[in-house]
Amino acid sequence: MFTLAVETGEDWWEVEAIYDLCFAPGREALSSYRLRDGIDPVTGLSLVARDRDGILAGAIRFWPVKVGQVQALLLGPVAVHPTHQGEGLGGLLIEDSLERAATLGWKRVMLVGDAPYYARFGFEKLHDVVMPPPTNPERVLGRALVERAWEGVAGDVGSIS
Ligand SMILES: CC(C)(COP(=O)(O)OP(=O)(O)OC[C@H]1O[C@@H](n2cnc3c(N)ncnc32)[C@H](O)[C@@H]1OP(=O)(O)O)[C@@H](O)C(=O)NCCC(=O)NCCS
Repeated sequence: MFTLAVETGEDWWEVEAIYDLCFAPGREALSSYRLRDGIDPVTGLSLVARDRDGILAGAIRFWPVKVGQVQALLLGPVAVHPTHQGEGLGGLLIEDSLERAATLGWKRVMLVGDAPYYARFGFEKLHDVVMPPPTNPERVLGRALVERAWEGVAGDVGSIS
């Protein structure tokens, strides 16, 4: 029912529009956006999902960050158009892009989000990883793409140019 494709430059503003629709106004004031300022998303990982008419139904983007001395992926934003929520598309975007991330050699992914949603995809609280304030530490979650990839990883999250 949906076709996934790597986001291209032509998709950019359509994806911004779906994010504006799905998130509260002022989303770009969130501290996670400071890690994205002036930096391109990771090539080949940000995905768009279109329905059979080619209408954008959902999107996911990733940025590179560092935690202490190691690299990690910052997942998000991910959003699904309200008319398609609850159909499994959010899960499809997350799982498909994380499979691609593992294939590309990424070892760990983190995000700031609702633990009750992301737990189903194996995300757990990262106790020693500190996002720029103001961020609720309970919402800082991670998933290892190779075994034990988050073990011993600690420190502030910073941007990678
Ligand atoms: C969150 C979002 C991407 C999920 O996409 P989706 O395609 O609706 O999700 P799925 O169909 O894969 O999963 C739906 C399930 O997730 C649950 N769910 C959705 N958002 C949730 C949340 N914030 N917390 C807990 N559970 C949530 C639904 O209740 C549903 O549960 P069920 O399977 O038990 O019925 C989508 O709802 C969305 O765009 N929301 C607005 C933007 C947003 O909040 N993005 C995430 C930032 S943290």
